Amino acid sequence: MKITYYGQAGFGMQINGKDLLFDPFITPNKLASDTLKIADIPADYLLITHGHQDHVADVEAVVKNTGAKIISNYEITTYYGDKGMDGHPLNQGGKAKFDFGTVKYVNAVHSSVLPDGTYAGNPGGFVIWNDDVCFYHAGDTALTMDMQLIPMTCPKLDFAILPIGDNFTMGYEDAVIASDFIKCDKIVGCHYDTFGYIEIDHAAAKKAFADKGKELILLEVGEEREV
Ligand code: NI
Ligand code: MN
Repeated sequence: MKITYYGQAGFGMQINGKDLLFDPFITPNKLASDTLKIADIPADYLLITHGHQDHVADVEAVVKNTGAKIISNYEITTYYGDKGMDGHPLNQGGKAKFDFGTVKYVNAVHSSVLPDGTYAGNPGGFVIWNDDVCFYHAGDTALTMDMQLIPMTCPKLDFAILPIGDNFTMGYEDAVIASDFIKCDKIVGCHYDTFGYIEIDHAAAKKAFADKGKELILLEVGEEREV
């Protein structure tokens, strides 16, 4: 499966011919704004893990360009629904079928509020699968025992996107343990290097995974990679 990294927690991927876009934070991101243009980013569905600025900054611009349908929790889809945007509301533990596959909204341990102060519900992550592939985008989260529920309740993960930048989320050391909890050895890192607080040592992070026989993939912003 080909994935494109848009910086912070932002990823694009094609699944069953549909373009999924996660957590667009491009215009305010110095690592992304020089090279990426919102107008060039495709989206049939826009998945939002939680309400923080570094996950929703470009939601309205993307929906305006693409007409993408928002998939997020009830509070976030209602917020954007009030602005005229189409959305499918989920809440923790719930799953729904779409034309590209099944989406389950799973627990994250974090906080969540929209940039204008509106309550954004509880933060989450997504497990997404169809007959060909299954993956997890954890959103912003601490290491949590709830991650152990994912392999018990979802198909086997082919890869997982985990935050590794520390300070606001788990760091890479805890992400190694998370990869054990979710029974997945192929991890794509996110939520690192965007701000001073979350700058990481790439070699040390990759070594922490390699020491356990696991792979940590760190993409350049704008990079497309088969995973
Ligand atoms: Ni956050
Ligand atoms: Mn964040």
